[in-house]
Amino acid sequence: MPVVSVLFCCLGNICRSPTAHGVFQSLVERRGLSDHIHIDSAGTGDWHIGKPPDQRSAAAAAGRGYALDHLRARQVSGKDFNDFDLVLAMDRENLRNLQALCPPEFSGELALFLSYAPAAGVDEVPDPYYGGEDGFAQVLDLVEQAAEGLLAALIDRYDLPAQR
Ligand code: 4NP
Repeated sequence: MPVVSVLFCCLGNICRSPTAHGVFQSLVERRGLSDHIHIDSAGTGDWHIGKPPDQRSAAAAAGRGYALDHLRARQVSGKDFNDFDLVLAMDRENLRNLQALCPPEFSGELALFLSYAPAAGVDEVPDPYYGGEDGFAQVLDLVEQAAEGLLAALIDRYDLPAQR
């Protein structure tokens, strides 16, 4: 049984949150914590349900050694707040939409993902969908930083037996 579960959320669940999912999964595997941390991703919108990640996100991630192609988009629901301890939003609009879905009894953490990357200088992962290739590289830069910060926080908070 995992000790802690994390849901990454964006708008479409085809660019930013699958990138966070894949990058964090890879980091968790490298540190030997796959059995302890459950990871998923979802979108606040419903347009891309069942679709694989955007080709541009998958290609940018593959360039840094992360596989995203097995992921499929789904829409977040109120039930996710029963199933996940941390629900992490990519931007403020995602966060507002998640706050509207969040039941009052939720005792986990609903926050911006970049709260785990205080040195990044920004607190939102910009939506790369309508932009150029550099937007997808920027998503990866921010996600990699926040993934490191998140994992360090979870290891500390849940006393997880991380490998070096
Ligand atoms: P994501 O990017 O929220 O990072 O998955 C987007 C994907 C699709 C759309 C917008 C943002 N869209 O408008 O279809």
